[in-house]
Amino acid sequence: MKITIFGTGYVGLVTGACLAEVGHNVLCVDVDQGKVERLKQGIIPIYEPGLEPIVRENHASGRLAFTTDAAEGVAFGDIQFIAVGTPPDEDGSADLQYVRAVARSIGAHMTTSKVVVNKSTVPVGTGDQVRAEVQGQLDQRGLSLTFDVVSNPEFLKEGAAVNDFMKPDRIIVGTTDPHSERLMRELYAPFNRNHDRMLVMDLRSAELTKYAANAMLATKISFMNELANLAERLGADIEQVRIGIGSDPRIGYHFIYPGCGYGGSCFPKDVQALHRTAREVGYEATLLDAVEAVNNRQKSRLIDLIQRHYGGAAALAGKTFALWGLAFKPNTDDMRAAPSRVVMEALWAAGARVQAFDPEAMEETQRIYGQRDDLMLCGTRDAALKGADALIVCTEWKSFRAPDFALMAESLREKTIFDGRNVYDPQRLAEQGWRYYGIGRGLSV
Ligand code: UGA
Repeated sequence: MKITIFGTGYVGLVTGACLAEVGHNVLCVDVDQGKVERLKQGIIPIYEPGLEPIVRENHASGRLAFTTDAAEGVAFGDIQFIAVGTPPDEDGSADLQYVRAVARSIGAHMTTSKVVVNKSTVPVGTGDQVRAEVQGQLDQRGLSLTFDVVSNPEFLKEGAAVNDFMKPDRIIVGTTDPHSERLMRELYAPFNRNHDRMLVMDLRSAELTKYAANAMLATKISFMNELANLAERLGADIEQVRIGIGSDPRIGYHFIYPGCGYGGSCFPKDVQALHRTAREVGYEATLLDAVEAVNNRQKSRLIDLIQRHYGGAAALAGKTFALWGLAFKPNTDDMRAAPSRVVMEALWAAGARVQAFDPEAMEETQRIYGQRDDLMLCGTRDAALKGADALIVCTEWKSFRAPDFALMAESLREKTIFDGRNVYDPQRLAEQGWRYYGIGRGLSV
């Protein structure tokens, strides 16, 4: 099949590469000339395991092409994917200007009937706006061409995006048009072999499914963080409680890990946008408000613990902290809404220095913060410890899991760890004379 994808960001590029990998012919369109040129050379703008080789191979085989020419893109695919960004507005609602612009472009250039598939995360009702934009352009051109607008939200996780696309839990397709459904079934047939994972529903339900999934996951995390804060005060260990409740299959073990808050480009933005959408239709989504508030507070949890340990914010001036993990989660270099940023910025505000290490996000940190006297970016995990007062862990990268504690004790001034992801065993560390602070581990406080 011939597919056009507007937007070579995270979702667009993974979608394009994976569709080409199974044999479709894909043309990706982006307005960023530099990015398109780099993609043609196989240089991809994000760190995502497994993505680069499939971009390179499929580009070399001719099944995956890149262009800045929207007209060429519209002419190419029977299916036109919209996979452009929907950044939050100042008021938290999703900014749809890029989605709209692509819809207008499709309407302005199409000469045969098309199926327009929206993959960007968009508020419920956007499908209708896309339809109106395309139709508006056709009307201006005096053309009466048939087209359908389908919602096909994406559920991939950063760091596991290729695998998630290749082996989806479900493929949500929002359309009531039999022709569009047939095309979408054909498109996804290679990913839908052993049992039918395609769930076809009306457009608005498909749009809401995306937000519902992310909001539910964010709710699970905030709920656990709330309980962790309670456990701490009650002298209980949230990690034991987590295992205790996760064993109930109705609750399950996924996404109940407490920590220093959720980050990334999706949960914070989508929870806010859904809250905003609810308001627009006259409903106050109290729970969503609380999910966000708990998360914002949780991002300062490590700072609270640090201040408590040293006896107030003023005592942090002149101290140096080793910080492991800058990305919002492991296996990505993405620092959007990363808890590490809240921690670093609070430490700097208090006059402390940071010696940081992350396996992938060093360049991104440099890009965001530039050169500053109170930030030293270290080449290795161990180098970040040298001469620091204590260690803070913000992201649970695998390479942080089993460090040599004896060696660490020699590098740090104090045997103190603030563990924002509950990576270490408090008991074991206490036996070795460490002062250990985790999240919700009342036994150690
Ligand atoms: C999330 C969803 O998991 C994907 O299904 C969805 O497609 C994607 O958003 C999106 O809308 O594009 P992602 O943001 O890549 O994916 O990352 P997650 O693995 O979901 O983690 C999000 C945050 O939650 C991270 O900061 C992570 O550390 C935190 N988290 C996760 C916890 O604090 N506890 C947990 O138990 C799980």
